[in-house]
Amino acid sequence: MALAFLGCGTLSSNSSASTEDASSLTPTKFIACVRGAQSAGRIQEATSLYPTFSVKTLQNDNISGIQQADSIILGCKPYMLKDVLDSPGIRDALKGKILISILAGVSAQEIEEILYPDSSFPAECRCRVVRAMPNTAAMVRESMTVISTCPPPPHRMGEATWVSIALAGSGPEFMALALEGIADGAVAMGLPRAEARLMAAQHPAQIKEKISTPCGCTIGGLLVLEENAVRGSMARAVREAIVVASQLGQGVKNVNGTRF
Ligand SMILES: NC(=O)c1ccc[n+]([C@@H]2O[C@H](COP(=O)([O-])OP(=O)(O)OC[C@H]3O[C@@H](n4cnc5c(N)ncnc54)[C@H](OP(=O)(O)O)[C@@H]3O)[C@@H](O)[C@H]2O)c1
Repeated sequence: MALAFLGCGTLSSNSSASTEDASSLTPTKFIACVRGAQSAGRIQEATSLYPTFSVKTLQNDNISGIQQADSIILGCKPYMLKDVLDSPGIRDALKGKILISILAGVSAQEIEEILYPDSSFPAECRCRVVRAMPNTAAMVRESMTVISTCPPPPHRMGEATWVSIALAGSGPEFMALALEGIADGAVAMGLPRAEARLMAAQHPAQIKEKISTPCGCTIGGLLVLEENAVRGSMARAVREAIVVASQLGQGVKNVNGTRF
């Protein structure tokens, strides 16, 4: 199976490298479509670390990349979307294929509307647009990816998509922040930074359930965190991200819905 990337920058490079040595159901051939020579060189350099990883890099030749692929990942920046999709030959090349968008804040429906502004365009000549939002864990092939299709799901489910995107996409970073906080505390008390980071990040999920012995120091520390509303602040951060994520695609700027 061949997979093409329309735009292969930071995120797409991580996603493609993460499929290396995966199961036989994963793509075996990759086509990276970019514009500049610098991008092409960067991809060649990054993938040279994986000799069995078949990557062809095409510059300014998106149509050929799409034609050679079974599925296509749309990995450009959201503001490039119209330039990439609304160009001659793209619709024909995409016919019958799966177009997977990883663009933040752009719905599958918006992509369909750029590709097929005429709603009477025959269904059998269209591609299938799918929206996939991977998270940081893609780098280690453990991404929690939120997938949605067009037409959008019913009202409540549509909201659940935004909530899931904010939770899976931003959650690991929120936890990294919390871990950084406890590492900072250890550094303030004299532990070298590298050791504090290593100790703080080890088995974080097990800490609360397994390490909190009755009358112990961990439950004492956890209660101080509760007194200082760390959980409440985390919840507010998730709420903030959900509001911002749901309004990004509508061009709303400076969204700050949780601070009224
Ligand atoms: N799901 C998530 O969690 C998540 C997280 C971060 C980002 N994203 C999304 O991922 C997307 C990419 O972000 P990024 O940081 O990887 O961007 P990036 O590093 O700027 O990469 C953009 C790529 O698009 C290429 N490009 C630009 N115009 C093109 C065209 N007309 N035809 C073909 N390729 C073209 C660029 O090539 P040149 O450099 O040669 O111009 C570059 O390779 C964004 O839409 C962002 O919203 C998603």
